[in-house]
Amino acid sequence: MWTALGTLSEPPGPRAASGRFWAATLGAAVGLFLLGFLIGWFAKPVEEKTSSSPHGEVKAAFMAEMKAENIKQFLFNFTQLPHLAGTKENLHLAQQVQAEWKAFGLDSVQLVHYDVLLSYPDETKPNYISIIDEYGNEIFNTSLSEPPPPGYEAVRDVVPPYSAFSAQGMPEGELVYVNYGRTEDFFKLEREMGINCTGKIVIARYGKIFRGNKVRNAELAGAKGVILYSDPADYCAPGVDPYPDGWNLPGGGAQRGNVLNLNGAGDPLTPGYPAKEYTYRLDKASGVGLPKIPVHPVGYHDAESLLRNMGGSAPPHSSWKGNLNVSYNVGPGFTSNYSTRKVKMHVHSNNKVTRIYNVIGTIRGTVEPDRYVILGGHRDSWVFGGIDPQSGAAVVHEIVRSFGKLKKEGWRPRRTVIFASWDAEEFGLLGSTEWAEENAKLLQARGVAYINADSSIEGNYTLRVDCTPLMYRLVYSVTKEIPSPDEGFEGESLYESWYKKNPSREYKEVPRINKLGSGNDFEVFFQRLGIASGRARYSKNWNVEKYSSYPVYHSVYETYEIVERFYDPTFKNHLTVAQMLCFQL
Ligand SMILES: *[C@@H]1O[C@H](CO)[C@@H](O)[C@H](O)[C@H]1NC(C)=O
Ligand SMILES: *[C@@H]1O[C@H](CO)[C@@H](O)[C@H](O)[C@H]1NC(C)=O
Ligand SMILES: *[C@@H]1O[C@H](CO)[C@@H](O)[C@H](O)[C@H]1NC(C)=O
Ligand SMILES: *[C@@H]1O[C@H](CO)[C@@H](O)[C@H](O)[C@H]1NC(C)=O
Ligand SMILES: *[C@@H]1O[C@H](CO)[C@@H](O)[C@H](O)[C@H]1NC(C)=O
Ligand SMILES: *[C@@H]1O[C@H](CO)[C@@H](O)[C@H](O)[C@H]1NC(C)=O
Ligand SMILES: [Zn+2]
Repeated sequence: MWTALGTLSEPPGPRAASGRFWAATLGAAVGLFLLGFLIGWFAKPVEEKTSSSPHGEVKAAFMAEMKAENIKQFLFNFTQLPHLAGTKENLHLAQQVQAEWKAFGLDSVQLVHYDVLLSYPDETKPNYISIIDEYGNEIFNTSLSEPPPPGYEAVRDVVPPYSAFSAQGMPEGELVYVNYGRTEDFFKLEREMGINCTGKIVIARYGKIFRGNKVRNAELAGAKGVILYSDPADYCAPGVDPYPDGWNLPGGGAQRGNVLNLNGAGDPLTPGYPAKEYTYRLDKASGVGLPKIPVHPVGYHDAESLLRNMGGSAPPHSSWKGNLNVSYNVGPGFTSNYSTRKVKMHVHSNNKVTRIYNVIGTIRGTVEPDRYVILGGHRDSWVFGGIDPQSGAAVVHEIVRSFGKLKKEGWRPRRTVIFASWDAEEFGLLGSTEWAEENAKLLQARGVAYINADSSIEGNYTLRVDCTPLMYRLVYSVTKEIPSPDEGFEGESLYESWYKKNPSREYKEVPRINKLGSGNDFEVFFQRLGIASGRARYSKNWNVEKYSSYPVYHSVYETYEIVERFYDPTFKNHLTVAQMLCFQL
């Protein structure tokens, strides 16, 4: 066969020899085709048996190995200190995770660093907002920090609430209330009410859209500063006490968060490239997505004081009113009795190039070692990270421990599995994006799927899955093999309780799956590299619970205790999420 093909390059011989040659070639081609066909035909069922891993008895082994109690211990361990990106505490946690993943038995575990632009408050000049009288006296100041939760009074290095990457400045001006700061809210103000935000300080409530987009909209409207606040209408569930008696946001709590408009660029100074020592950097002033005006967040106690005497136009619609005891007049400025008063912002945060660390662990596959399935979630938190991200990181830790255990017993996955503990997610998905930028070619060629693991819980009602349609069948089939953790569904599958509590509106007789948006570490894998991606967590009943995300989101009150006391006392929902993520690898 091979010699016949080899003669092709020789000069043409006599007619007869040429005829025999072509007959032999044709015969060989038909033979090869049949052989290939037969291999394809008979190999197919074998292929299907091993095509998804872990499978069959391997799933049973993982079910037996993974324990709610371990996830609980890991969550406690990860939440005793703040783990802000770029701090030594978060480097120490990276080193601990690396050492533990090695001890669990992964084939290799590396720390991978990048030098990215982060943002921190100035420790000597606090950020705050004041109301000033006609002489410029600061007659009211917003608080400089949140009252600490019980038991955490002595913890140092709790970063006060701030808007990361805010511009510096001390603008003064009249206040305008802009509802959620959406495009349609500014349209209403500018086009229907004739209110011009140019030169004003706007105050927007959190919720509905990403905070960075509110800031961008305010900038486009000409505002010279933005105050963000959590309205009880959006951050308190009715009939629930504020933490520590319940899981609502207390009035002194405020939501931290970055206010970038990165559009997936990763590090603002190295768009498209990994932020390594050798990489060209833009200068700080021309970084991607940085806001040009000061931004600062406050809680609802301070917001009530700021909004107390707002004058000007009445709110255009009842949907502009939150649950504070104020008029929700949009302004500009205060009522005539207080018309000489203004609002003044004080923002002194600094942008700084800082080293961050991902932990990357691998376990080599047996059948397709050059195909990668990735399970990644972030490790950095604003403060203690009780929910975001450690309720996810603790689940990843238990999955890695179980992979190590089964490996020690002689098992390996079909494909290579990569586990990642990302850094600086809170500052714009930086750790995951830089790593994907550094490994883009390899990932595009070899990446099979990316599974994301941020917060495992945001409620205790039922499962929530966001994924690409390519994964729907996988998600439905694995949820049929996982027992439901819900009360009243004993002996039934997760699929059953999920379907009963949240059926799809688009498709008949299946549970609802959401589209993957953006704003978490899957973004670069899914949106930029085109790798099939998904995420899963336990969630609230979206039909009746109207508050945004979960009330204590990004505040100092996201502690271990809020999870243990109010969200998942037995950690059974965490275990369910662990089973979901594990079975998709
Ligand atoms: C967390 O666990 C590690 C490893 O067991 C241990 O060294 C460390 O002291 C623990 N930290 C806390 C805060 O419990
Ligand atoms: C607000 O803070 C400024 C600066 O520290 C101070 O001068 C002023 O007295 C404070 N105002 C109030 C009402 O506490
Ligand atoms: C808003 O005010 C600014 C400055 O006073 C002015 O330049 C701009 O034209 C105004 N915009 C509208 C739509 O009136
Ligand atoms: C609402 O605020 C007004 C002052 O503006 C006060 O008189 C009233 O008692 C407040 N109501 C409640 C329920 O706190
Ligand atoms: C403004 O002040 C006058 C006189 O003190 C008072 O009667 C009136 O109720 C005040 N109006 C508002 C809106 O506070
Ligand atoms: C947990 O479930 C109970 C019962 O449905 C509910 O009342 C409670 O609000 C839930 N807790 C949280 C944190 O969502
Ligand atoms: Zn997160």
